[in-house]
Amino acid sequence: MCGIIGYIGPRDISSVLLTGLKRLEYRGYDSAGMTINNPDGLATFKAVGKIMELEKKISGRDLAGNLGIAHTRWATHGEPNEINAHPHLDAKGEVAIVHNGIIENYYALKDFLIKEGFKIVSDTDSEIVAHLIQKFHNGDFSESVAKALELIEGTFGLAIVQKGENKIIAARRGSPLVLGLGEGEMFIASDVSAVLDYTKRIIYLNDDELAIVEKDSYSVKNLKGEEVNKKVHEIKWTLDQIEKKGFKHFMLKEIFEQPEAIINTLRGRIKEGKIKLSLDLNMNSLKRIIIVACGTSWHSALIGKHLLEKIAGVPVEVDYASEFRYRDPLIREGDLVIVISQSGETADTLAALREAKARGAKILGIVNVVGSTISREVDSGIYLHAGPEIGVASTKAFTVQVVDLLLLALFLRQEKGLDLQKDIIRNLETLPEKIREALGQSDSIRELAEKFVNCKNILYLGRGLNFPVALEGALKLKEISYIHAEGYPAAEMKHGPIALIDKDMPALFIATRDNTYEKILSNMEEIKARGGEIIAVVNEDDKKVIGLAGSIIKVPSVSCELTPVVNAIPMQLFAYHVADLRGIDMDKPRNLAKSVTVE
Ligand code: F6R
Repeated sequence: MCGIIGYIGPRDISSVLLTGLKRLEYRGYDSAGMTINNPDGLATFKAVGKIMELEKKISGRDLAGNLGIAHTRWATHGEPNEINAHPHLDAKGEVAIVHNGIIENYYALKDFLIKEGFKIVSDTDSEIVAHLIQKFHNGDFSESVAKALELIEGTFGLAIVQKGENKIIAARRGSPLVLGLGEGEMFIASDVSAVLDYTKRIIYLNDDELAIVEKDSYSVKNLKGEEVNKKVHEIKWTLDQIEKKGFKHFMLKEIFEQPEAIINTLRGRIKEGKIKLSLDLNMNSLKRIIIVACGTSWHSALIGKHLLEKIAGVPVEVDYASEFRYRDPLIREGDLVIVISQSGETADTLAALREAKARGAKILGIVNVVGSTISREVDSGIYLHAGPEIGVASTKAFTVQVVDLLLLALFLRQEKGLDLQKDIIRNLETLPEKIREALGQSDSIRELAEKFVNCKNILYLGRGLNFPVALEGALKLKEISYIHAEGYPAAEMKHGPIALIDKDMPALFIATRDNTYEKILSNMEEIKARGGEIIAVVNEDDKKVIGLAGSIIKVPSVSCELTPVVNAIPMQLFAYHVADLRGIDMDKPRNLAKSVTVE
């Protein structure tokens, strides 16, 4: 996904911009570029491919200047090439912009500009912004930007420079943007990690805000030109937390961080056997919950449905955010909409949140990234406190989401005056230790991965609470190893997919003990009878599955409600090791981005 960094101050401009771009690499990109405002005008450099290519283009040049903007592009309109890479400039080369988001009325604006005599050179929607600003140029930089923005429909995170101006203008609608405050220097970025090398003092811009940034000062206005007072946030995440800590990949580091992440999410939320959540919502009138999310977060929502219905006795519906937003959803009195998102920036989830809000629902967010757009737009929230998740494939956010949904279910039960299930609470407190035990299987899971590294398809099967874990296991494998994998409820096999079973279609069963255990054994028999190879995730002391499965992964026993968390660990490790053995950089799998901020 595209990334933005801007800088104004005394440091070496190109190295600040390059460092920022490298911090944004994890988001995924296909080209990069920068513009430096130097005494001779706007010097712009672009390159397709890695940031290293951009570095080669600028090496050996004298890049004097005290402000500049840079961008990593992930193509949406127009192929990845140098012309389409940002920054984009107006025809006179006086205005340069970098843009994240999508301009929806781009064709209309393009026609309008062409009629006015402007020459558009790229295939992007972004370029027109530079021309519009130039068109409205009247000597007042921020006024011409504001006028241009009035015409734009769609989403933007923008950083803009103009020849001869000692300031950068940033503007946001629907695409995240922050200001980083330094001493005699200022930063603009789409992501806090791009500026953490230099400052931890951050301002989050809201939609329809425009910031005028000079080296010693800044001001933020809304699009009506009214001054807005902004809170300065002190960021606690260190760069060290963000880097790999000796693990080969971010994904592996994040898998191994799960015990710590669960300790952090539980901290202060269980006291003397009671659940403490400060939710600013009236739960007495609660009649129904609707959970919306995408991808891995949607899988945790499916587990949440089981937990909330069983423990709190509240009916729950789960929807893909992308479907919910367009299906004219019915919101009734007593409905609570829960949005789940690691990044807090997923465009579909954000749109679903806004749709639900417009229809009168109260919104509860379960979000990891503090200060993200979703976290700021919800009525109340539960932060995951899982720490930064850099690997594109979500791991620790998933298990922590499930833990927080369980906490919420217990909390709602407590609010109803029902007895709390003390054994679940005790199990929650020992969960980090159980996760460590499950992580101890990493080496034997790698051996198993060696056996399946060349297979073309795998079926993931589970039931009840562990059916969504099967979905998640299949998603992990396909997105990072490019092996086709599907998750199914195990009993559904006989209604069609069983036709696929032969010796080349292994089936991975989640077969830890719960109320569906005996049924799963029969489902395994059905596969075995058709010559299918079985991999099974079982409890350490299991005796029955051993005879049926060719390969076994053992996990510690936990109470039934926590099995999805423990069983997710071998799913993640198996996918990781298969991808690593196939030589794939699973931190940046092809075609994927960490945070999907476009529709
Ligand atoms: C898969 C993955 C994605 C995300 C999805 C939602 O490993 O990471 O499926 O879960 O894009 O992202 P968030 O949770 O940030 O809204």
